[in-house]
Amino acid sequence: MCGIVGYIGSKNAIEVVVKGLQRLEYRGYDSAGVAGISNGKIQIVKKNGRVDILKQTVEDIKFTSHVGIGHTRWATHGEPSDINAHPHISSKGKVAIVHNGIIENYLTLKKELQKKGKVFLSETDSEVIAHLLEEVLEANGGDMIASLQIVQRTLVGAFAVVILSVEQPDMIYAIKKGTPLVLGIGQGENFLASDGTPLVQYTKSVIYIGDGEILRMSAKDFQIYNSDIQEISHKTSTLEMELSMIEKDGFEHFMLKEIFEQPKTILDSMRGRITADFSEVKLGGINKYAPQLYNANRYLFLACGTSFHAGMVARYVFEQWCRVACEVDVASEFRYRKPVIHSGDAIFAISQSGETADTIVAIEEAKEHGANIFGICNVVGSTISRVSHEGAYTHAGVEIGVASTKAFTAQLTVLYLFGLKIAQSKGTLTAEQIKQYNKELLAIPNQVAEILKMSAEILEISKTLKDAHSMLFLGRGVQFPIALEGALKMKEITYIHAEGYAAGEMKHGPIALIDENVPTVIIAVKDSNYLKVISNIKEIKARKGKVIAIITKGDKDIPGIADHCIEIPETSDALYPLLTTIPLQLLSYHTANVRGCDIDKPRNLAKSVTVE
Ligand code: F6R
Repeated sequence: MCGIVGYIGSKNAIEVVVKGLQRLEYRGYDSAGVAGISNGKIQIVKKNGRVDILKQTVEDIKFTSHVGIGHTRWATHGEPSDINAHPHISSKGKVAIVHNGIIENYLTLKKELQKKGKVFLSETDSEVIAHLLEEVLEANGGDMIASLQIVQRTLVGAFAVVILSVEQPDMIYAIKKGTPLVLGIGQGENFLASDGTPLVQYTKSVIYIGDGEILRMSAKDFQIYNSDIQEISHKTSTLEMELSMIEKDGFEHFMLKEIFEQPKTILDSMRGRITADFSEVKLGGINKYAPQLYNANRYLFLACGTSFHAGMVARYVFEQWCRVACEVDVASEFRYRKPVIHSGDAIFAISQSGETADTIVAIEEAKEHGANIFGICNVVGSTISRVSHEGAYTHAGVEIGVASTKAFTAQLTVLYLFGLKIAQSKGTLTAEQIKQYNKELLAIPNQVAEILKMSAEILEISKTLKDAHSMLFLGRGVQFPIALEGALKMKEITYIHAEGYAAGEMKHGPIALIDENVPTVIIAVKDSNYLKVISNIKEIKARKGKVIAIITKGDKDIPGIADHCIEIPETSDALYPLLTTIPLQLLSYHTANVRGCDIDKPRNLAKSVTVE
């Protein structure tokens, strides 16, 4: 969370930085700020609220500078406000910093610096970096690289920090540990950002700055030092991103664009991974660790939020297909419950961003106990993809809407491929079954396209939910995680209280909630639980509850009982989640839209949660 940008070159840095912040707004959007150098002094403009407000302000005052740093914030320490927004400046105005991450020892440092007379203006942890750097610079004769080495070693926590110095107005400096920072190499200009989205418009030539490294960049060149201050060289990478991927492309919201991209993204996640005769799955990312993957005694799926729901689906599917014990846990719980980890456990770390702090910490712990980590990430080069032993990318493309949609179905797709690959190696599915599943998987993109055609119908159902205060989402078996995911989508973008439940659990408590004002969405496709789910629908109707049912096309029974039905095509039981999740995404999207919610930037949220 939080996005940072830096620019130095011949353009107006303030304009470039603010535009970059707009691209990074999905990382945090409660306040934003920018700093440049004007008349030999650091000038800062920062505003509570969205980047648009900052943009208007810098335009009104005609703020220009050849160098600039900026920040869009997701508050951790201190409420969203002008004062707590970044950049933060040191007491004597020598340096300004922007920071993404969290400084765990900031209170101790703050107290020490206050004793030395430093005056803190904000309640943030980040401000300590500016005062500390100024103090260390004074003690080291203004040697910025040496000072940054000391600051880097003093700070405990996770950080990407970009620094502007009044004494070196033609330079930008940066340090990094744990949170991402990308250098964009231009012609006579250089850029820094939390990810590639602010850069792609100007350059595709990038370097991912490593942990413990120190960067100095001018408009013309740059140097990167390791933690011992030796200059190092890095291989340049090419950003795999097009500008069109990060624009709305005619859709009202990124979320809707991303929902509609799913026929393509699901296919992209399978591309080149199923042989032409459907007989085999090929996962290029599994080489050295293939035996550890196939012979593991236990599979563990670790993730947070929506990615956790993908892990839950995988547990059902792997148990059925591979006949191996499986567990799934939210990463933040896993670490703190002193889990029993056996050397040789295979752990799937599932993450869209690849930067979720809880997931990173959990897998690091598991790694120490000898587990083998298989990363399933969307963002190429992300931390989780790097710290995993091996893995596979999901290839969903850049996901900007804060509510995850296409990344989820891409995760499911890749997990299915892993399940089939393992089952094939173990012989727990027959060759015929593998072929059949592969064929059905390849049919999914067209089936998703068919469901998307019902968007207008789903909008009509959403209108009936406009004034709901509370909702239930029910599913059984592999549809239980989809019910949880449906409820999560609904609550995060509509702010309607929504509970996901295993349908069989309904009578053990949640049924008390049901009346004519609490609608229930129930996944009632024709799978092995179908008849039991029909009983659940009847129990709800007997209590005057409104029912929206996701049913299999051609079902003649449920339309006579439920208030609204959304028909989806038929597939096998295990693969249904790839289809049932689509109408739930559309239902949340349209409900949020009719309620006038800020769909791409729901309150209090940020796209990637890089603090524990
Ligand atoms: C919900 C959502 C979050 C993320 C969670 C994990 O729509 O997007 O729940 O799924 O924060 O993020 P990643 O997948 O980046 O680790």
